Formats: sequence, C-alpha cells, structure tokens
Amino acid sequence: MLNRRRLLALGATAGGAMLLPFTKFTPAGAKDGVPLRKEYLLGDRAPRTGVRRTLAPFTTQMPVPQVLQPVQSGGVDIYNIPIQAATAEILPGVQTPVLTYAGQFGGPTIKAKTGRRVKVMYQNRLDMPANVHLHGGHVPAASDGHPMDVIQPGQARVYDYPNDQQGATLWYHDHAHHMEAEHVYRGLHGFYLIEDDSERALNLPSGAYDVPIMLRDSEFDANGELVFSDPANRTTILANGKAQPFFPVAARKYRFRLLNASNEHIFQLNLGGKPMTKIASDGGLLPAPVQVTEMVLASAERVEVVIDFSRYPIGTKLVLSNGGDPVLRFDVVRQAADTSRVPAQLRALPALPAATVVRDVAMSFDLTGTDPIGMINGKAFDPNRVDFQIKRGSTEIWNIVNAETIPLDHTFHMHLVQFRVLERDGGAPLPQDAGLKDTVLVPPGGSVKVQATFRDFLGKYMYHCHFLEHSSVGMMGQMEIIP
Ligand code: C2O
Ligand code: CU
Ligand code: CU
Repeated sequence: MLNRRRLLALGATAGGAMLLPFTKFTPAGAKDGVPLRKEYLLGDRAPRTGVRRTLAPFTTQMPVPQVLQPVQSGGVDIYNIPIQAATAEILPGVQTPVLTYAGQFGGPTIKAKTGRRVKVMYQNRLDMPANVHLHGGHVPAASDGHPMDVIQPGQARVYDYPNDQQGATLWYHDHAHHMEAEHVYRGLHGFYLIEDDSERALNLPSGAYDVPIMLRDSEFDANGELVFSDPANRTTILANGKAQPFFPVAARKYRFRLLNASNEHIFQLNLGGKPMTKIASDGGLLPAPVQVTEMVLASAERVEVVIDFSRYPIGTKLVLSNGGDPVLRFDVVRQAADTSRVPAQLRALPALPAATVVRDVAMSFDLTGTDPIGMINGKAFDPNRVDFQIKRGSTEIWNIVNAETIPLDHTFHMHLVQFRVLERDGGAPLPQDAGLKDTVLVPPGGSVKVQATFRDFLGKYMYHCHFLEHSSVGMMGQMEIIP
C-alpha cells in the first residue's frame, strides 16, 4: 500500500514537482492498495457522506493540461514521461502529495495524429511497479499495459502506439495489477488526443478553443492529503486538477472534451438548463451533432460538446454542475472572432458487419467472505486464465449484465476495440450509448448488448468493470485474439 506519510516526507516541497528517490521496494500484497470493504459497496448512488471541505468556490482558474512536446519527431513522434511522485496545488494554498506523469497532476496531454506512430518511453521513478494503458486505443498487446506486464521501479519501458484509428479523445492511466485503483486515484491519468485530417476539415473549434477537461472526484483529509478509502466520501470534484475552478472564455464557440477520470463516480452534467451541442463520445465524432442540456458520464467515458458562448453577453457566468453541485464556472470575458462551425453532418459510423459469435458477460460481487471478490461470469480475474478466445477478423455480440441484486452500479470496458451499443435492457440504447464506445454504464439488474470487430492485433487483452476498485479486486476478464 502506498504509504502516505512516506510520500509526504519524501515528496512534499513547496512549489512543485520533486522526484521521489528510490527506496527499498517491497512488492505489494494481493490486497494492498485496495481498501475495498463491503460497506463501501452501496454504490456510487449512495448519499455522499464525506466531510465537504468548505472552500470558496471559483477562486482558482482552471488550467489546461500542458501539451507534451516530442523529444524527437520524424516519421515517429517520441516522448519521454517519467512516472514520479510530486506535490500539486489542488486546493488553494495547499500542497498535496500526488503521483504524476512528468510531475503534472492530471498528466501532460499527448497530441497524436491518425496514421502517425507515437512511442512513449515511460520511466518508473516510483518505489513500486507501475504501467500504462492507453484507454480507447487500438494498440498491439505488448503496448496495452496488461496488468501483469509492469515497469519495475527504476526501469523504463517504451510503448508503441500506431494511432491506426480515427480522431478521438483517449486517455492514458496506470493498470498495474491490484494497484491501478490507488495509482489512478492519486494522479496517474492524462489525456491522449488523436486528430485526423477529415475531422480537421470540418472546422470545429480548434487550438485554444479546443479544451480537454478531466473531471474526477476526490477526498481530502484535514491536511489536504488525498484519502484513498470509501468512494462515497469523495465529495470534492476536480476539473483539470483544481477544486471548483473558473475558466475565462471568449464569446464564441468552444469544443470541450470531457473525461470522467473518477475511479467510480457517475457524473450528471448540466449547464443550468442551457444548451450544449454533443459532437463526440468515447471513440470520436458522432454522425451528427445532438443538442443536449444534460449528460450522464460514467467512469472512463468521454463526451465532447461545443458550447456557443456568443449567445451570452460579456459578464455572463455559466456553471457546469454535477446534478446540483457546481463543478466549474465559465466566465464570458471578451469578444473573439469565430470562423469555426458545427456542421450538420460530422462523420458516418462504420458499417456493422454481421456478428458470428454471441457471448454473455455477467458482472457481480461475491460478498460471502470477509473481503468482496469481484467476478465476471462467476470467476475472479486470473492472469493465467484466458476467458474468451476470439478469432482475428471476427465480429461478436456481447450481452453484458449487471447481476447484482443490491443497488450497485458497474461499468463495462473492453480494451482494443471501439464497440457499438445495440440494445439496452432489451430496448433502444440511451443517448449516452451513441457512437463508438469503449465504456458503458450498466446499472444493477440492467443489460447492454454491444457489438465489436476484432480486426488485426493478436494477443491478450482485458475487459473489466471500470470502477477501478472493482476491477482491482477481480472484476476483470482476459480475452485472447488468435489467428
Ligand atoms: Cu481504462 Cu483497462 O482500462
Ligand atoms: Cu482500456
Ligand atoms: Cu463494478
């Protein structure tokens, strides 16, 4: 388990990032880092009982995560990212010990292009194993961040990303076995944006008007340290690593790429009834824009919206809220030219080939023992077991069920592919299921039918509940793509 006191002692310096020196490494035991207790399993819909820090809202400006520059770019863009402990000012005037990619809480943004390879060398400067998964990425198995395929302390590892997929908002995060929940919670998450030429040609808001926003929940103790415990106590919502920030905008259109990087929170986002234009989901653009006033965004899901601030006079303040809880305030502060547009047609979805295999996937907890055990189809994750063998090139339908009889949500995420939601609870999908998806919410007793095509890469990949405390204790399966 990550020792907070030690982290604080080694990592806490005023004014920013400091490397955690190598210390003697003790491998984490199976349950370490996962304080999942039965009483926590009331689910993310339970009333949030944690002590809310009383902060004056909207005193800090929301930063935009820094775009990482490649150390080399020819035919391939090469990046270096150290994985290191640092401190970050999340709450005003307080330095919080965190885990970071490149010293930045939230992580730097990698901007990739369709068809252009990216290689990232990650250097593990922590005193425990770590690894990196590109969530939503179509990547070779060796670069997928298999939970057992970790970077040992002091070691480095190159991940190779072909970017053989259309433009989309992806993210990268830790996936080290049994540790991913705590690692991600403490800060090992960042944006990876893929852009393609045909998307660029649509002339959507771009450059400074295309802003990724990482939303996540967190719990702080009286010293401002992150508490990794009961998810129901994570009452402080962060936007790009700040609690309730404001963001000055010009009176024009903006594209916002919203990611829910919470371990297990479901956001219900609204702009106080004001319209937003939804243009993309997990895997990229929708066929056509959709006007919305509210959006459900479960852990790991992404949604992209265009907000047109030219509708509002200078001086207007618009609050993005989670239900009735303010998350972020947009302050309309200036005029600006705007030649961007949101075309009536964005990008057609790929045709659905005929499926040849149907599989059932049931997610549930075994609550009979002292510790909860996460299961898929009645079995906890076993890295030495392949649950599904899938023939390369085939198209499959998966019927995913949340088999809980208690009010406990799950989400479902598949590595390697973007899928389509065909049905929800035997009927039409919900608005949040539209487009290319890699993660879906599955409420208790609910079911989701999805279809995916496994086009080229061979090897072992994960599928799991993306409530990371659930996958950390076993709610994960392994599929192997075979020739
Ligand atoms: Cu974000 Cu295995 O996933
Ligand atoms: Cu993933
Ligand atoms: Cu779950």
